[in-house]
Amino acid sequence: MSKPILLSTPHMGDREQEFVKEAFDTNWIAPVGPHVDAFEQEFCQVTGAAHAAAVSSGTAALHLALQLIGVGYGSEVICSTLTFAASANPITYLGAKPVFIDSDRISWNMNPDLLQEALEQRDRIGKLPKAVVLVHLYGQSADIEPILKVCNQYGIPLIEDAAEALGATYKGRTPGTFGNIGIYSFNGNKIITTSGGGMLVSDDRDLVAKARFLATQARDPAPHYQHSEIGYNYRLSNVLAGIGRGQLQVLNDRVAARRRNYEVYSSALGNLPGIEFMPEASFGNSSRWLTCLTIDPETFGANTEQIRIALAKQQIETRPVWKPLHLQPVFAECECIGGEVAEDLFARGLCLPSGSNLTDTDLKRVIDAILSVYSLVS
Ligand SMILES: Cc1ncc(COP(=O)(O)O)c(C=O)c1O
Repeated sequence: MSKPILLSTPHMGDREQEFVKEAFDTNWIAPVGPHVDAFEQEFCQVTGAAHAAAVSSGTAALHLALQLIGVGYGSEVICSTLTFAASANPITYLGAKPVFIDSDRISWNMNPDLLQEALEQRDRIGKLPKAVVLVHLYGQSADIEPILKVCNQYGIPLIEDAAEALGATYKGRTPGTFGNIGIYSFNGNKIITTSGGGMLVSDDRDLVAKARFLATQARDPAPHYQHSEIGYNYRLSNVLAGIGRGQLQVLNDRVAARRRNYEVYSSALGNLPGIEFMPEASFGNSSRWLTCLTIDPETFGANTEQIRIALAKQQIETRPVWKPLHLQPVFAECECIGGEVAEDLFARGLCLPSGSNLTDTDLKRVIDAILSVYSLVS
């Protein structure tokens, strides 16, 4: 039986164990400590963010971001529809309601024209949303400038969900550092990982300090335990921050490896009839966190599900593109502006194994498996 090839697995560098050992040697085995502080500072250096707070997950970072912006019971929050549920779940933790926006075809991310339309319409009825959550999908930045412009026009804070986009660029800068708050994820499948973890960034020092406060149970400055606000236990462990420090040192290599996966796949499969790879928008570099493609079943001769099943039989994991949130049973009541593009990408999109630790042999196995599906149907 051949070894499984998974979608995206952790890929450690040389320094992580050293940093973790240091945490053990100094007994900083807590959600506080020198690695946490250093990880935040180093993250700012790498991304160009002004201030950062390390937390236990990207979801936690998003929850804090929404609360810090003032999202609360009855608020509406605009969110990309083509994304993982974690982009919208924290909106509901606060008793607010997501309103979804369709993707454009250039970036697969939020369509700025539809956002403009949504805000114009809501302004007319005097019911503007409390925030916009803009997702940067699969390592590809959304078109941030027009989105920021329309948010500024209506005075709506922008939260960037860059969980999947660390290492990407938008006009030379890191997605996640343009809006009022950006968040990142270090889950096990992300471009770098702390096994689980996240980061909240902002230009606003006080806001990031408040995020740290809320993430550590909102303890008032007093010798006894005193609380004037409800807090959370969301801080990142010092041990895991040590892993993060090691991972940051290899971020550029990880981006290069993932971009190379895409190059190898697209040069071997890009000319097959009916296959199109996720485009890279002209406004920056995609990290190609996942290499995704769409398949036109009529032209190719098989659909994504048939390909997924054929590859699974050979121990190769592929995944459909995110199911749009407006199609999820849990968000069935929520409004969606547009939706056809995301629905089409879901119907025809497939994510290929994309880890930075894939070998040439692994890539060849994936390519050969897809070619053999094609030779059976053509
Ligand atoms: C787009 C997006 N947003 C948010 C998250 C949540 O991050 P985490 O798993 O660290 O909570 C993820 C990934 O898991 C994601 O892909």
